[in-house]
Amino acid sequence: MKQVYLTGITTSGTPHLGNYVGAIRPAIEFSRSENIDSFFFLADYHALVKCHDPEQVRQSRAEIAATWLALGLDTERATFYRQSDIPEISELNWILTCMTAKGLMNRAHAYKAVVQENLDSGDSDPDKGITMGLFCYPVLMSADILMFNATHVPVGKDQIQHLEMARDIAQRFNHHYEELFVLPEAVVDQDTAILRGLDGRKMSKSYGNTIPLFVPEKKLRKLIMKIKTNSLEPGEPKDPEGNTLFEIYSAFANSEEQERMRQAYADGIAWGEAKQIVFEHINAQLSAPRERYEELMAKPEEVEAVLQRGAERAREVSVPFLAQIRKAVGIG
Ligand code: TRP
Repeated sequence: MKQVYLTGITTSGTPHLGNYVGAIRPAIEFSRSENIDSFFFLADYHALVKCHDPEQVRQSRAEIAATWLALGLDTERATFYRQSDIPEISELNWILTCMTAKGLMNRAHAYKAVVQENLDSGDSDPDKGITMGLFCYPVLMSADILMFNATHVPVGKDQIQHLEMARDIAQRFNHHYEELFVLPEAVVDQDTAILRGLDGRKMSKSYGNTIPLFVPEKKLRKLIMKIKTNSLEPGEPKDPEGNTLFEIYSAFANSEEQERMRQAYADGIAWGEAKQIVFEHINAQLSAPRERYEELMAKPEEVEAVLQRGAERAREVSVPFLAQIRKAVGIG
């Protein structure tokens, strides 16, 4: 069976090193292999779950699109589109919603985490601040995946449960109506650990600890200098295990380079010096795509044309497939 890789990025922030290492880079690598069909999309409807600022949704979508293109996504090979340009996804979302047990959604980690926060803060309403969008998020994600019968879905560890839910929902549909959906599998790259941010927690927009991918060089240097280390002095040996700076470096370095840095740590390299090396190393890899990124941000028409073509190609799949799905459930 042909392998279909599909993944989405929620367009609610500015792409950072964590997104790059954990999602974008592996996806672009996949997309280059023969015998793999790949679908990459801007999950802008997912963005509405956490972001109610229209300008921010627009801006983030533009930045993320330009980022993928600047990093060399081959859009002749991969299908690259905006979720909101594929109305069939929203339609499938409803059909799947009617096949989804509420109890399944009750168990979603993301939802449960917010409920727990509410309970912990002594709030009388455990569902405070929770929209149906947040609650039903995994159904929309299932629609994204099942619409294109993806076999493989590269995601971060935090999304594994959503993939299990997508399988569950697909199975239920297949069992009740017709075997239309392929059961997707999560692909979690164990080597590309979740990158940690400036403060040592997972790099995430919600913690405000990110290093944006395409900040100007000076700013990149400044941010790398801010990565939390400890008070060990120059000359004192340092432990690379669990060290955020070392981990960030490793995400951009081959095994030889990592080995050399390991040795430098053992030899007591000063934090400032280590950071300078990390900056130069990462900057060298990012400077060409950064230039391309800036060009694309200045020419939104160019990006738009690529997305329009992507949507056309995606709809060559989604339109006929949705017709089949509608028929199976007795609509149309
Ligand atoms: N939920 C994913 C995230 O936050 C984004 C996403 C939306 C996605 N739809 C998807 C990822 C479908 C993979 C497949 O990272």
